[in-house]
Amino acid sequence: MALKKSPVGIDIGHANIRIAQAERTAIGFQIMKYVVTETPKGAIRDGQIVEPEEVGLAIKRAMKEAHISASVASLAAAGGAVFIRTVQFPKMTAQMLRDSIRFEAGRYIPGSVDDSYVVGEIVGPHGDTQIDVLLVASPKDIVNARIRACEIAGLNVDYVETETFATYRSLLEFDPDREVGSKTYMLVNIGAANTAVSVIQNGVYLMHRSMPNAGNMLTDALKQAFKLDTIDAEAGKTVLDLEELLSGDGSDNPPLKVIATMVDDIVRELRRSMNFLQTQPQSGGGKPSATVDKMVLCGGGAKLKGLAKYIQSKLGIPVEVIGTFDGPYIENGGCVPGNGVDATVVAGLAVRPYLKAA
Ligand SMILES: Nc1ncnc2c1ncn2[C@@H]1O[C@H](COP(=O)(O)OP(=O)(O)OP(=O)(O)O)[C@@H](O)[C@H]1O
Ligand SMILES: [Mg+2]
Repeated sequence: MALKKSPVGIDIGHANIRIAQAERTAIGFQIMKYVVTETPKGAIRDGQIVEPEEVGLAIKRAMKEAHISASVASLAAAGGAVFIRTVQFPKMTAQMLRDSIRFEAGRYIPGSVDDSYVVGEIVGPHGDTQIDVLLVASPKDIVNARIRACEIAGLNVDYVETETFATYRSLLEFDPDREVGSKTYMLVNIGAANTAVSVIQNGVYLMHRSMPNAGNMLTDALKQAFKLDTIDAEAGKTVLDLEELLSGDGSDNPPLKVIATMVDDIVRELRRSMNFLQTQPQSGGGKPSATVDKMVLCGGGAKLKGLAKYIQSKLGIPVEVIGTFDGPYIENGGCVPGNGVDATVVAGLAVRPYLKAA
C-alpha cells in the first residue's frame, strides 16, 4: 500500500544525494523507488548547503530521470552543529517542558538558542527529582537551506529530523534481534565528510557527535601520498582490505598503510566517545555505564573492506557493518544496489510518513 501523497525521503550528503520512496508491506516496508546522484561539487560545506539552487536542480533532475513523482519530502539535518543528547531537567510536565525548553536548552546547546530549532522530549524519570529529556537542536540556517533546496525541486517539506534518527529507524528500531531495548549500541555512520557517532542505551539516545574524519580524508590521503587524481584514489580505496593488516599480509602494502593511519584516527575518536560515555549518567539515573555492547557501522565509508574486523581488533568490542536490508522489516524493491549500507538515512526518511499515518 502506498500513501496517497507518496512522500519522498531525501538524504542530502556531502558526496551523494539519495532519494527514496517506500510503501507498506504486510510486515514492514519496501523501498519502491530509489535514485542516487552526485552532490554538486562544493554545494555543501560542513553540513550547510551553500548552493541551494544547484542542489535543488540536482534533486529535480534525479527524480525526473528515475521517474519519481512526489510533492512532499522528509529531510534530515546532520553535521557537527546538530546537537542531540539526553540531559536531566527538574521534574516537570510535557507542557512545562514545552514552555521552558528554549530557556533550559541554552545551558546545553553550543549555538544560540534563538538561531536554532529546539525540540525536547521527556524520556522518563531520572531518580526522584529529575527527568531525562532528549534534547535536539539544529541551527536554523542548516535546516532552512535544505528546505529551500527541496522547494527549488518542487517539493514541500513536511518533516525534518536528524540523520541519526533516520538511521536508527532503518537499522535498529524495528528489529527485536538487535536487542536495542536492553543493550548499549554505538551507531556509526561513516560518510564522505562526516562520521556521525550515536550512543543508544536501552533504546534511549544518550549522546551524539559528529567528526570530520570520514571517507574524504581517506581519499585525500591516498591522493597526496601517491599523487593520484580523485577518480583513481576512490577506485584504489575499494580494492584495499584492512584485514590484511591483521593477518600481517599487508605490511608491505603502502596504500593500505596510508589508509590504516587515517582509520586509526577514526578509531581513536571512537575510543574517546566510549570514554566520554563513562562520565555520562545512564538514562533513568543509574551509574555511568562503561560498556558499549555493540558497534554498528553504516554509510558509504563502511564499505571499506575489513573495516569492522579492524575496528573490532582495536577496540575489543563486537563491530558489525549493517545495511538497511539486512533486517526483516525494510525490503529492497530491487532498486537499491547491495544491502543498503549507504541508504540507511534515506530509507529511514522514506518509511517515516507511514509511521506517522499509523
Ligand atoms: N567500496 C568502498 N570502499 C571504501 N569507501 C567507499 C566505498 N564506496 C564508497 N566509499 C566511500 O564512501 C563515502 C561516501 O559515503 P556516503 O555516500 O555515505 O557519503 P555522504 O552521505 O554523501 O556524505 P556525508 O554523510 O558525509 O554528508 C566516500 O568517501 C566514498 O569514498
Ligand atoms: Mg551521509
